[in-house]
Amino acid sequence: MLNNGKIRILDTIEDLHMAEELQRIVWPGSDTDVVPAHLLITVVHNGGLVLGAFATDDHGSGSEKLVGFVFGFPGLYSTPDGPRPKHCSHMLAVLPDFRWRGLGFALKRAQWQMVRHQGIDRITWTYDPLLSRNAHLNITRLGAVCNTYLCDLYGEMRDGLNIGLPSDRFEVDWWVNTKRVERRLSKKARLNLDFAHFIAAGAEVINPTQIDGQGWPIPSEAISFSTAELTDNQDSLIVLVEIPADFPGLKEANIELAKEWRLNSREIIEDLFRSGYLVTDFVHLPGKIPRSYYVFSHGEGTF
Ligand SMILES: CC(C)(COP(=O)(O)OP(=O)(O)OC[C@H]1O[C@@H](n2cnc3c(N)ncnc32)[C@H](O)[C@@H]1OP(=O)(O)O)[C@@H](O)C(=O)NCCC(=O)NCCS
Repeated sequence: MLNNGKIRILDTIEDLHMAEELQRIVWPGSDTDVVPAHLLITVVHNGGLVLGAFATDDHGSGSEKLVGFVFGFPGLYSTPDGPRPKHCSHMLAVLPDFRWRGLGFALKRAQWQMVRHQGIDRITWTYDPLLSRNAHLNITRLGAVCNTYLCDLYGEMRDGLNIGLPSDRFEVDWWVNTKRVERRLSKKARLNLDFAHFIAAGAEVINPTQIDGQGWPIPSEAISFSTAELTDNQDSLIVLVEIPADFPGLKEANIELAKEWRLNSREIIEDLFRSGYLVTDFVHLPGKIPRSYYVFSHGEGTF
């Protein structure tokens, strides 16, 4: 039996070989997509961070196993005053048997502490916007925000998690010194706003979906909004966009429907970003037929 253990920096070649192996398990199928240990160690020796989560054997053998890791490196972003430093977080992974225990959150929290210590105030990373679990972690739990949609960023991907669909990604911003992020990472419980709160406040689901006979959501054909109308209407400063609650399951069951979701949600979200909305929250409703919604807020003063 293995228990959740500690999180520590991975900085030896042996550690980083374990991180290589972990990638092969989480993203099976394409060895050329694995970030190799020799690159990871170079990054670690030059301001990058590779942090690992270990589980320990509770039968007293003391053996530990790497069950999750997060990897990123320093980078630059452009501002009108010239380039500024940021941390570019490239990979986060937890072994399937160790998910749902808060390890993804704990790894990102450790990364947040280390990057703040380096004097950097912004972390960015990308993820597939249709992955509800990742949205819950990145937006709801960690307090990242997003107004950047990258179409087919990596081209055709060959690994088992990504094969068969355009690799569209959100690039999220994690402003690590803000009150918003500190509140979400604080040990004190935060009252999450749920679906009912947003609806009570006048927010509308702009792509209402039907559920088919197999329990999968069907993207709405006609979107119930024009962004000009939305921004003219003060009640529409917050809008909700539904995504499938289980996109990996949908991909396996019906790749054509998954593709429809990719293209349909791309169009809606790009339109919202162009109109000045940004993703500020995410709501997941568990249940027999779970539902998931992004919360978009208009304007710059929203966080
Ligand atoms: C993304 C990943 C790292 C998360 O790791 P994890 O250890 O399971 O994460 P956590 O346990 O901290 O958080 C999972 C949360 O998702 C929630 N969740 C699970 N299924 C969900 C769903 N369908 N929709 C929304 N939220 C969901 C859980 O309830 C949990 O939330 P809580 O802590 O508030 O209860 C892991 O799933 C993974 O390795 N995925 C494959 C690789 C990947 O996608 N990496 C990220 C992009 S590079």
